[in-house]
Amino acid sequence: MNDTLRTIAQRRSFRQFKKEQIRDDELQAILDAGLQAPSGHNDQSWYLTVIQNRERNDQISDGSKQEMLKLPVDWMVQIGKNENFHIFYHAPTVILVAAREDAISPIADACAAIENMLIAAESLGMGSCWIDFARLYFTSPERYREVGIPEGYKVHYSVALGYKPDGLQPNPRQMKRDHYFHIIK
Ligand SMILES: Cc1cc2nc3c(=O)[nH]c(=O)nc-3n(C[C@H](O)[C@H](O)[C@H](O)COP(=O)(O)O)c2cc1C
Repeated sequence: MNDTLRTIAQRRSFRQFKKEQIRDDELQAILDAGLQAPSGHNDQSWYLTVIQNRERNDQISDGSKQEMLKLPVDWMVQIGKNENFHIFYHAPTVILVAAREDAISPIADACAAIENMLIAAESLGMGSCWIDFARLYFTSPERYREVGIPEGYKVHYSVALGYKPDGLQPNPRQMKRDHYFHIIK
């Protein structure tokens, strides 16, 4: 197995992080990896907003949880009510991943950039988690303006990033089925 394949196989979601902020050069390397992702029609429709401000991330977490309370999905409502739940797990760095709404495949573009960033983070020994809930916060143009996302972009997902806590070893991937693919020759 080469280093790239090993990094892909080792990447697991982290939901605990050290408080210490990641270095700017590491952040830049992760953003650059995101921007190397493939995109539909080569639209490169993503727009990444990095938030390294605890109050702002807490505000988005709280606001997203408020939105969850309005949803007709019981497990989401339960998470929204949980005072101890932080949608970013208090990660010191959050990357909001938006994409241009008029692109050919904005969600796929955003997802491709995210996966590149998660793998890049693992390659640097960092913990990361793909986060869904933050998109719920972005219900109005004001909320987009608060974080400086340009008009015409929609937040789809986000990434929580930080150093892994000492000694925390995630379990290797447990496959859920025996059969995920077949090959026709
Ligand atoms: C579209 C998508 C949304 C996700 N949203 C969340 C989330 O909001 N919170 C979270 O803790 N994990 C989230 N995850 C991470 C998954 O729970 C995780 O990838 C899965 O359990 C497999 O674990 P692994 O990443 O450690 O291999 C998300 C993953 C994907 C692909």
